[in-house]
Amino acid sequence: MSGDAPAIEASGLTKRYGEVLAVDDFTFSVGRGEVVGFLGPNGAGKTTTMRMLTGFVPPTDGTATIAGHDIFADPLAARRAVGYLPESPPLYPEMSVEGYLRYVATIKDVPRRVRREAVDRSLERCGLVEVRRRVIGALSKGFRQRVGLAQAIVHDPPVLILDEPTVGLDPIQIQEIRSLMADFAAPGEGETPRAVILSTHILPEVEAICRRVILIHQGRKVIDQPLSELIAGGQSLEEVFGRETSRDISAGAEGAMENAP
Ligand SMILES: Nc1ncnc2c1ncn2[C@@H]1O[C@H](COP(=O)(O)OP(=O)(O)OP(=O)(O)O)[C@@H](O)[C@H]1O
Ligand SMILES: [Mg+2]
Repeated sequence: MSGDAPAIEASGLTKRYGEVLAVDDFTFSVGRGEVVGFLGPNGAGKTTTMRMLTGFVPPTDGTATIAGHDIFADPLAARRAVGYLPESPPLYPEMSVEGYLRYVATIKDVPRRVRREAVDRSLERCGLVEVRRRVIGALSKGFRQRVGLAQAIVHDPPVLILDEPTVGLDPIQIQEIRSLMADFAAPGEGETPRAVILSTHILPEVEAICRRVILIHQGRKVIDQPLSELIAGGQSLEEVFGRETSRDISAGAEGAMENAP
């Protein structure tokens, strides 16, 4: 990572789709070693924010840096610094698991001499060793999800952005992926700590691995707090979620209030 820049720094990120304000002036940062949970109801803007951070959609306004690289000024370096598991990973059904990971490692600029090692490591970490020669299209849903994760980490990026990473996995694999995310952020001695953002609807998952919670509602950040503080008063994460997302805070709703007699 360049200098002491935070792993992720987003400033005023905004995305408008016609009339829909999907993400509204979203500012936050994530430091190395942190695992941050993005929470929010369906349609809150989690995926859209992740897509902006990873260079898949351009923000309407605002910007972000990934490991010190601005997504506008230095898009290639910013993209290279991030591993991304999209909601539906673009897997190539005719390719073998191993062939696909080798291909991803190549386009992510993993040097040829360490490519095999990088592929082997991601196969192992995601529990894919036994299916490495299988064709992706013939794998079960959970195994395809593992391949999606493996492609996100194959180039060992300093920043991981995972959109609902444990959807469709069996309980054992969920545990493995959770510990993978935790190790990834806080690895052993001598390794650089990395940053992880994950979105999830599974609140116990947040309690298990996230140090900090960012709650998004109607495109806006409504909570950005360490998990320990958030639940300090004895309230559950579920209660916080319910309370914070029951209000209508959309620009339209505010306008309506202002205009009310
Ligand atoms: N390509 C698009 N065109 C138009 N509107 C979009 C597009 N992508 C997202 N939106 C809208 O932006 C808003 C935020 O969607 P987003 O997918 O970011 O939500 P989310 O928090 O990821 O929800 P979920 O929990 O269901 O995955 C929604 O109103 C959605 O309909
Ligand atoms: Mg989503």
